[in-house]
Amino acid sequence: MSDNYVQAIQTVDVASGGMKVVELNGRELVICNYAGSFYAIDRRCGHMNAPLEMGTLEGSILTCAMHCAQFDITTGEALSGPVPAYLGNETPPPRIGAFLKNAGLFMQHVRTESIGTYKTKVESGWVLVAL
Ligand code: FES
Repeated sequence: MSDNYVQAIQTVDVASGGMKVVELNGRELVICNYAGSFYAIDRRCGHMNAPLEMGTLEGSILTCAMHCAQFDITTGEALSGPVPAYLGNETPPPRIGAFLKNAGLFMQHVRTESIGTYKTKVESGWVLVAL
């Protein structure tokens, strides 16, 4: 079966280290520029569906902004699960503290799945994604 490549963005749209959300054929993806090469991944975090473009991309490692799960954008592999929020030395008000504790316990029991990746290629200044 041959891949069906779809035009996603122009290469100049995303600088090295950057990310851009696209919707292609009804699918939400993030196009990542890692050292001049482009990678396409599912937009939603494999933990609790946060939008991954709000995270940070360092090298090929994308860290989700919501609970800091990490993914390798070249493979989609989940490298780590969520990290509980660090409250420092601050003591939250009792009811808020109880809520945060329960939310943290719940969040840690949600398994982090790897995310989908898609083949890309560059032609005539455009990034194409295989769907
Ligand atoms: S939603 Fe991404 S780490 Fe929890």
